[in-house]
Amino acid sequence: MTVEKNIFDSKRIAIRMSQIRPSGLRKLFDLEHKIAKSSSLKILSFGLGNLNIPTMPEIINQLKIALDDPLSHRYSPNAGLFELREALAARYKTEYHLDYSTDQIVVTSGCLEALIDTFFALINPGDEVLIQDPTFGYYASQITLAGGVVRPIPLNDKFELEAEAVNEAITSKTKALVLNFPCNPTGSVMNREQIQAVVETATDKGVTIISDEAYEAITFNGHKHTCAAEIDYDNVIIISSFSKTYCMTGFRVGYVIAPPELLTPISLVHQYNTACANSPAQIAARIALHSPSSIREAMMETLIKRRTETIKAFTSVKGIELNYNPLGAFYIYPNVRGLGMNGTEFSEILLENCQIIVVPGTEFGTATPDHVRVSYGFLNQEDIREAGTRIQSYFSKSH
Ligand SMILES: Cc1ncc(COP(=O)(O)O)c(C=O)c1O
Repeated sequence: MTVEKNIFDSKRIAIRMSQIRPSGLRKLFDLEHKIAKSSSLKILSFGLGNLNIPTMPEIINQLKIALDDPLSHRYSPNAGLFELREALAARYKTEYHLDYSTDQIVVTSGCLEALIDTFFALINPGDEVLIQDPTFGYYASQITLAGGVVRPIPLNDKFELEAEAVNEAITSKTKALVLNFPCNPTGSVMNREQIQAVVETATDKGVTIISDEAYEAITFNGHKHTCAAEIDYDNVIIISSFSKTYCMTGFRVGYVIAPPELLTPISLVHQYNTACANSPAQIAARIALHSPSSIREAMMETLIKRRTETIKAFTSVKGIELNYNPLGAFYIYPNVRGLGMNGTEFSEILLENCQIIVVPGTEFGTATPDHVRVSYGFLNQEDIREAGTRIQSYFSKSH
């Protein structure tokens, strides 16, 4: 018998790694590819937070031009191309009436690098960091890697974060609060008053707010996103990227925006981490900021149709419930308890019997094991409809 070695417990590996496990989302990605090879039915994946809507051609053309320019074969300035930061500052002024200088912006390799740079710059060993539950699974591991202690706060029934819950969770060790609206995995949003109540509660107690606004531009039914820095310019670190807003997940361009006191240490971590984001991708990203609004409107039209179809596909089965309105991002987060199973069991049954992939709620915290995340970023309407047919057919037979 071979005994599997736990590499994380090896003396050759840093102790901090014993608390880190690979992301279940990546495992799902690998599983999907493995199953696709042996399955006769097309795998319909509502798994990853990827988008299959084409990136704007002007962005691609600019990338090709940049690749032929020797200047883009070099490191960019640490903080990112000046012209890109200038365009970002202009965007935050127009969109949110926020005045940032180019020195208050650092361009990173996506939100993910921006987040880990921020955690390393802020957290001392043992500092507590509040996160939502459920929330994007990467935060907990990144905070742990930086030496912090993760303190999850359960969201309410509508997947909103209540100021009172934040107030109760704050202790003398609380260093920061990670906000994420529109929220991954729920697609829930918060209105201005709700964001204001949370931000003010944290600020009053000296807790810094790290606001991951990766989905800021993807909202439905007229919901207007509030940037947390509109409420408190001095205490909010904005994290965002081009990934979701411009269908550029593979370009890996994101950024941090913050008051100088907070940005300077973050930018130092960035310097020693990656030196700079990919130069050609930064040049292409600048074009995205100048893209006509019609491009984004077309993307939103596609997502609106997929959202409607996805809600229909999953909720027409008795026992699958969506009792809140997911007005942002490209996820829905239904509860499957009514089927007599939890989210993990449901996702296994769906994969085995319908060749459909969804992500169990346990990937996003401990508060919502009966839910599953359904991403409609990567399937067209026809495939979503087909998924609905498969789900209805299976559950009408088995229940
Ligand atoms: C909430 C949230 N933040 C950050 C990211 C990562 O974004 P990026 O591609 O900019 O690194 C994701 C990706 O799914 C996400 O859902």
